[in-house]
Amino acid sequence: MEKFKTLTLPTSKILLAPLAGISSLAFRTINRQAGCKFAFLEMISARSLSYSSKKTIEMMQTNSSDRPLGVQLLGSDPKYILPSLEKLREYPYDLLDFNAACPQKKVTSNGKGAALLKEPKRLRDLLKILVKESPLPVTVKIRIGWDSGKNAVDIAKHAEDAGISALCIHGRTRMQGYRRPLDYNAIREVKKSLKIPVIASGEIWDWQLAKKMFDETGCDAITVARGSLGNPWIFKEIEEFLNEGVMPLRPSMEELGKTMKEHLNLDIEARGERTATIEFRKFFIWYSRGMRNIKPLRGLVGFVKTQSQMVKLIEKLIATGQQIS
Ligand SMILES: Cc1cc2nc3c(=O)[nH]c(=O)nc-3n(C[C@H](O)[C@H](O)[C@H](O)COP(=O)(O)O)c2cc1C
Repeated sequence: MEKFKTLTLPTSKILLAPLAGISSLAFRTINRQAGCKFAFLEMISARSLSYSSKKTIEMMQTNSSDRPLGVQLLGSDPKYILPSLEKLREYPYDLLDFNAACPQKKVTSNGKGAALLKEPKRLRDLLKILVKESPLPVTVKIRIGWDSGKNAVDIAKHAEDAGISALCIHGRTRMQGYRRPLDYNAIREVKKSLKIPVIASGEIWDWQLAKKMFDETGCDAITVARGSLGNPWIFKEIEEFLNEGVMPLRPSMEELGKTMKEHLNLDIEARGERTATIEFRKFFIWYSRGMRNIKPLRGLVGFVKTQSQMVKLIEKLIATGQQIS
């Protein structure tokens, strides 16, 4: 059991990361069914939440099986952060994370997300407000710095001073975006200098890379982000390898097809046929990653608009696609 102040993460050190534009209820449900034990919602703008914007409320859709669940706030102004915390009281979440990691220009140009890495004292003061006002345990997500990883420890220590329960760190700078290499050393330095648990993020594509992250950084937990796209089994595979030394088996084509159809179904229930089917196009590509004989099917998926068309394409994929490993 991993303890984060009042939060106890059930048996797992492998968390599903927040993924903007992706972490729908259907996505989280599919990952949980395949072995994920803790999931985040995508980041939520404090300002939009304080206004109860329709889109934000939709993004926060959840149900009683979708637990434990983390919510991540994006903001920099207590004028919006405080009312958003009030709104959050209406929702059944287990952990409140604060985003100081988002690299997008439209976010950082307003002093939010990764822009806060340039102002460790300001970040600390915002976190103090969250810790004081939030009924939930508070964590923060940072990157290793704005344009060099050299002040990662300083940022992390300021965050810890605010009284947070854990710190999540993505091992890249803001300027690096999502480019390689990932800086394992910077994460390790942060881990060595903090007393609170450190959750590491970056390049968790499979169980080998998960092991590398634990071994090289000494982190307490990891988040899986892009590695979960089209591969909800990754959580179970990492657990099995780390806990039992078992080399994970890949799912059969039948299981893949069943999961794809269920994912599509769940999203249709939540968001309606058209939106869910169009959203699923990118998942079709992700689920078929690394297969042979699928180029023509991938070319067709961009035209699919209905559930029955998508199901037909999934069935063709299962009949003709060949898994490489
Ligand atoms: C499409 C996309 C959306 C993301 N959205 C968020 C987000 O809402 N909040 C956040 O803290 N990180 C977000 N991230 C960053 C991931 O959580 C993770 O830190 C990053 O992708 C590195 O992990 P990976 O290399 O294993 O993918 C996002 C990443 C991607 C690719």
